[in-house]
Amino acid sequence: MKSDLKPDVCVVGLGYIGLPTAAIIARAGCKVQGIDVSQKVVDTINRGEIHIEEVDLDGLVHGVVSRGLLSASTTIAPADVFVIAVPTPFDKDHAPDISYVLAAGRSVAPVLKAGDVVILESTSPVGTTEQLRDFIAELRPDLKCPGLTRETPDISIAYCPERVLPGRILEELTNNDRSIGGISPRCARKALAFYKRFVRGACVTTDARSAEMTKLVENAYRDVNIAFANELSIVADSMGLDVWEVIRLANRHPRVNILQPGPGVGGHCIAVDPWFIVHGAPEATPLIRTARGVNDGKIRHVIAKAEELVAAHPDARVACLGLAFKANIDDFRESPARLVAATLARRFGHRIHVVEPYAAELPIEFTDTGASLIDLDTALEDCDILVVLVDHDVFRVVPLAERSGKLVYDTRGIWPDQPRAAEQREPGLRLAS
Ligand SMILES: NC(=O)c1ccc[n+]([C@@H]2O[C@H](COP(=O)([O-])OP(=O)(O)OC[C@H]3O[C@@H](n4cnc5c(N)ncnc54)[C@H](O)[C@@H]3O)[C@@H](O)[C@H]2O)c1
Repeated sequence: MKSDLKPDVCVVGLGYIGLPTAAIIARAGCKVQGIDVSQKVVDTINRGEIHIEEVDLDGLVHGVVSRGLLSASTTIAPADVFVIAVPTPFDKDHAPDISYVLAAGRSVAPVLKAGDVVILESTSPVGTTEQLRDFIAELRPDLKCPGLTRETPDISIAYCPERVLPGRILEELTNNDRSIGGISPRCARKALAFYKRFVRGACVTTDARSAEMTKLVENAYRDVNIAFANELSIVADSMGLDVWEVIRLANRHPRVNILQPGPGVGGHCIAVDPWFIVHGAPEATPLIRTARGVNDGKIRHVIAKAEELVAAHPDARVACLGLAFKANIDDFRESPARLVAATLARRFGHRIHVVEPYAAELPIEFTDTGASLIDLDTALEDCDILVVLVDHDVFRVVPLAERSGKLVYDTRGIWPDQPRAAEQREPGLRLAS
């Protein structure tokens, strides 16, 4: 790849990370081929449409596809830079599964040529980039790979994690700082030159293992701090205190910044990535492991409280507000809200209604429960109990007048003005007067 020319780019995996990344690189004027194993995803993108919900992504993809800068395929062609953004889940024992990364490496390897750059963006356990390098070296013994030769390597391999917030992906992909970890300093420099084409944030180079660990640490940091807030919420429950009031007051301390509790931690990042550290150093991670346990325990706590509330009011119609794992997105993976609502639906059937503006239908586990998907206005008119599970903006702005007379279990603390029943001292369980 000559630095004065725009490289041809291949993005492998066109999901929440890969598609916006491919579109932004295409917007910077590079020709981008997007590769996905799903024919449906490929066909959708080639029509200039998108299969995920993300602010402003539809217009961007439509634009770059119609200008011929982005096209999708299930089969890979030669390029200058390869960006891998495939899933990295864990198995039932919380051990990381890097088989998708290696599968992506298997597709990339045959088309690699001297001068190419391979960048892994998937959140990965420490050592994965080196494993990917070893795998490519095995498949392509004709190529000199970095770290395995004394001569100048033919290709560069680096790790560059994502730290975007769903709902702000396009903005954050461009403006966030990036850690770029090379297998060697030379690899890091090659990857840096590539990211500089479309990233306005600072790009900081390091080695691949440090960059891998940095990403995991960021999410473990969030998980541990949310666990502290969730543990406080359970303690406050047991003491009859309003946890949000306590946190609001404590955060007036100039060096205290407690996060907000919720119904547990969801999504495919914060609830997953800490396990990659625990798996890598099981004896050295009691805090990180415990935080995971606390956050999972909070889901069970919310389920028990919600069940108790619904069971105590047998004639009440119940609206569960939200299924997504966080506010203002359509991503329901590993979502505590979804688990709480589905558990209520299984036990209380047709009494349970779900409001989720980002869903066209209820997920599969609601089938045959009798629960239904309704809109917010209907819930506010017809339901007696509101269980707030997600802090979508559209829920947050419901005025007190429309909630009055309802029993509210607010697991997100979005309605601080909801009066608490005199007889009901549990924080988050507020009966409008
Ligand atoms: N979504 C986020 O907010 C976020 C943030 C930071 C990091 N990450 C990390 O980024 C990675 C990707 O996450 P995502 O949310 O985009 O996942 P995703 O499930 O939305 O998308 C992954 C895509 O890869 C495709 N795919 C799977 N195997 C493939 C293969 N061998 N070849 C080509 N395509 C393949 C899938 O069909 C899917 O379309 C994960 O490691 C994740 O942890 C995600």
